[in-house]
Amino acid sequence: MDKKEIKKRIDRLKKLIEKHRDLYHTYDRSEISDAAFDTLKNELEELENKYPDLITPDSPTQKVGGRPLKKFGKIVHKNPMLSLNDAFSEEEMKKWEEKMENYLKDKVKGGFYAELKMDGLAVELIYKNGILEKGVTRGDGKIGEDITDNLKTIKDIPLKIEKDRKINKEELLVRGEVYMTKAEFERVNKEQEKNGWKTYANPRNVAAGSLRQLDPKITASRKLSFYAYGFGEDIGLENHKEEHEFLRKIGFPVEENDEEVKDLSEAIKFRNKWEKKREKLSYEVDGVVIRVNRNDIFERLGFVGKAPRGGIAYKFSPKEATTKVKNIRVQIGRTGILTPVADLKPVEVAGVIITHATLHNFDEIKRLGVKIGDTVVVSRAGDVIPKITNVLKELREGKEKEFKMPNVCPVDGSKVEKDGVYFKCSNKKCGARHREELQHFVARGAFDLRGLGPKIIDRFLDEGMIADAADIFLLKQGDIEILEGFGKKSADNIISEIAEKKEITLPRFLYALSIPQVGEETAHVIAEQLARKLKIEREKLKVNDILREMQKFSLEELQEIKDVGPKVAKDVYDWFQEKNNEELLKKLEKNGVEIKAEKKEINLKLEGKIFVLTGGLEKMSREEAKEKIRKLGGDVSESVSKKTDYVVIGKEAGSKKEKAKELGVKMIREEEFLEMLK
Ligand code: IVH
Repeated sequence: MDKKEIKKRIDRLKKLIEKHRDLYHTYDRSEISDAAFDTLKNELEELENKYPDLITPDSPTQKVGGRPLKKFGKIVHKNPMLSLNDAFSEEEMKKWEEKMENYLKDKVKGGFYAELKMDGLAVELIYKNGILEKGVTRGDGKIGEDITDNLKTIKDIPLKIEKDRKINKEELLVRGEVYMTKAEFERVNKEQEKNGWKTYANPRNVAAGSLRQLDPKITASRKLSFYAYGFGEDIGLENHKEEHEFLRKIGFPVEENDEEVKDLSEAIKFRNKWEKKREKLSYEVDGVVIRVNRNDIFERLGFVGKAPRGGIAYKFSPKEATTKVKNIRVQIGRTGILTPVADLKPVEVAGVIITHATLHNFDEIKRLGVKIGDTVVVSRAGDVIPKITNVLKELREGKEKEFKMPNVCPVDGSKVEKDGVYFKCSNKKCGARHREELQHFVARGAFDLRGLGPKIIDRFLDEGMIADAADIFLLKQGDIEILEGFGKKSADNIISEIAEKKEITLPRFLYALSIPQVGEETAHVIAEQLARKLKIEREKLKVNDILREMQKFSLEELQEIKDVGPKVAKDVYDWFQEKNNEELLKKLEKNGVEIKAEKKEINLKLEGKIFVLTGGLEKMSREEAKEKIRKLGGDVSESVSKKTDYVVIGKEAGSKKEKAKELGVKMIREEEFLEMLK
């Protein structure tokens, strides 16, 4: 981007952020999630940091908070209701501790207190002589709105609190979070839908909207919940743990997964544990709150700006982020249905890097209105695969391109037909065959990717992670890790195996391509001929060289190769002339596949000898045996004929043994065979 374009992007970002900020702070509505909003803000901040001359005083990065709505009465908080600084990584948590230690010139004594950070709205409840007198929103931190009548409709909020002998204050300020459970959120949204009204984006929004209804009856019709987490002033207790105990004692609900943690590493463990378990809770949490447990130290640490130095919100990695659609491509399913898949600029969502998202069908593209080049919101809940949930059309630059469903199938070039909302390849066998070919590509005699069994290949295709064989070499750990049944470790194993097997020998490579009638043996003889032609002494060959040379072979030349008849020659010839195949080979080269020269052993004691293997071998796999024979100059054939020199008889040998007897071909047992290999 040049400077002019950057300025344009900044202007668009500013407008969009302003719009969402106003919706959020002033009207409790939001069309995108907090996390997606944050990524927009980060992008703006990054651009402004890079080009400080483009910062204007009206930029949302220069302003804070929302303004209170006029309709409710205002109440000035006795002590400001502050917010917490966020941390997103272990490093940031360590920095937080360092800062405190520098400030205290000492270690933080007495450990920390860890609790879940509910995603709702902060309120302050003012009790006078044990009776709830006022309930106030946070507002801008200093002045909040009087929403007492609405708060009184919430069952979790006691109207009267128990007297305590030890702490008996005339006025007690209790702070906590009003939230809506996931179940209630679904109920409300279903009702909205039934009435033909707009549904809400998340429980926080409904909770906020319900709390600020002028008519308390509306608030009461939506079940809101409340958890207390602290006080609006010092009530003389020694630590935060005691404060929680006291809240419980006088009748407040307190989130039950709070715990004392002795040091920072335990605090980090607490957060990581809940990041995994968050989906199991019946309400939304967006992180954990870690606070210095001892109140005297917490007080001493004081404040930086709007936040206490002694506490921090250690957030979970966001379930949503914004990124750009680099391309929309088409992938074929088993039944021939063409599914559009978006290639994304890599982005972290819920802790993993995402590079693509399926768009399901053409109607989904229309519904979202997504174009190539668009900035989009990607979200991922729990263990589910990522989805594009929103298109930020305000950020368009005019260069975005509409996606067109191709007229011909990208796999076999047949016509594409419409079938309801779906587009299908008119060749009914195409989808299933494509799958088989991919499974063959990774099979034993071919690329030998043991981590990618047929089921996994199917899964990757269904999720739009790969559209063809070459895509396998672009997979990222994050793509795999998020699939149910996979973890970091298994994803990592697959990725390293793929990297390791990018280098392949020529016969294996040719065999992997699913050229009709080209089995392992034919692949071998063609490879040998090709090697002679290319005079491979070089360590590595390029896939593009193979493509070029194979395309140069005439039908006659191919037929001259030993054991290649006219039919096979024709198939091989046609395969390499086909445009789709040419593109696949180029893509394989681009994605890093390399052909390595096979090191022939000098000892060619089996030169010219033809072997047939039958039955199971004990000391080695069939694949190994074949490789050994070939290395010593011999050939392996699948069927017994008069030309066969040896039939190796393994366990439970079948009809090949009979055939050998019939033709009088020499039969040897495994031990003799092993002797020959020595
Ligand atoms: S302690 C100085 N504890 O998170 C503020 N806050 O950014 C101390 N929140 O405004 C707040 N759960 O709305 C605290 N267990 C919890 C919380 C919690 C949610 C919210 C609260 C606050 C914001 C902090």
